[in-house]
Amino acid sequence: MLISDMCKNFKQSIILVGFMGAGKSTIGRALRHLTGWPLIDLDELIVQQQGVSIPEIFAEQGEAAFRRYETEALRSLSPLSPIILATGGGIVSCPENWQLMRSLGRIIYLRAEWETLRDRLAGSSGRPLATADRGEADIQRLWLQRLPLYQQADCIVDTDGQGVEEVVRDIMAGIKDME
Ligand code: S3P
Repeated sequence: MLISDMCKNFKQSIILVGFMGAGKSTIGRALRHLTGWPLIDLDELIVQQQGVSIPEIFAEQGEAAFRRYETEALRSLSPLSPIILATGGGIVSCPENWQLMRSLGRIIYLRAEWETLRDRLAGSSGRPLATADRGEADIQRLWLQRLPLYQQADCIVDTDGQGVEEVVRDIMAGIKDME
């Protein structure tokens, strides 16, 4: 069956959660292409709404302010027409965010092994919680703390060793079971 035919009747938003480096933006773009729905990147929406970059928010206002903006950005989304929503890795830490995400659509956890995430994060920039001076052990601790939260998603999709198309197919198959 064609991937595009798998979920023809599914009309709820698809919300991607997972740790930094899990591939939420990449998979989000592939899902936008497949469904034709708008892709909203919550981090980009926060930057638009606040008029400052994420590293600036963390440096000048602190993480707690960023978390408030994250919840505000989620609240500003309408459940009326379906979107693909790529969230930031820490969205799962606030219970209200879960209520808001559940009212928008289905939550998909993009799971990856620590080694995969660590390697991807090593070459990345612009993530205040995954900077080189923070140290690998500290970032891994954050990942471990969040693991039980990610498990609360409606559907868990493994991304290790899988190409974008395979991940998208697994998401669509998971959604089909929820229709
Ligand atoms: C964060 C993840 C980032 C961004 C912010 C905080 C986190 O998004 O929201 O830097 O707490 O894990 P990505 O997961 O897209 O990197």
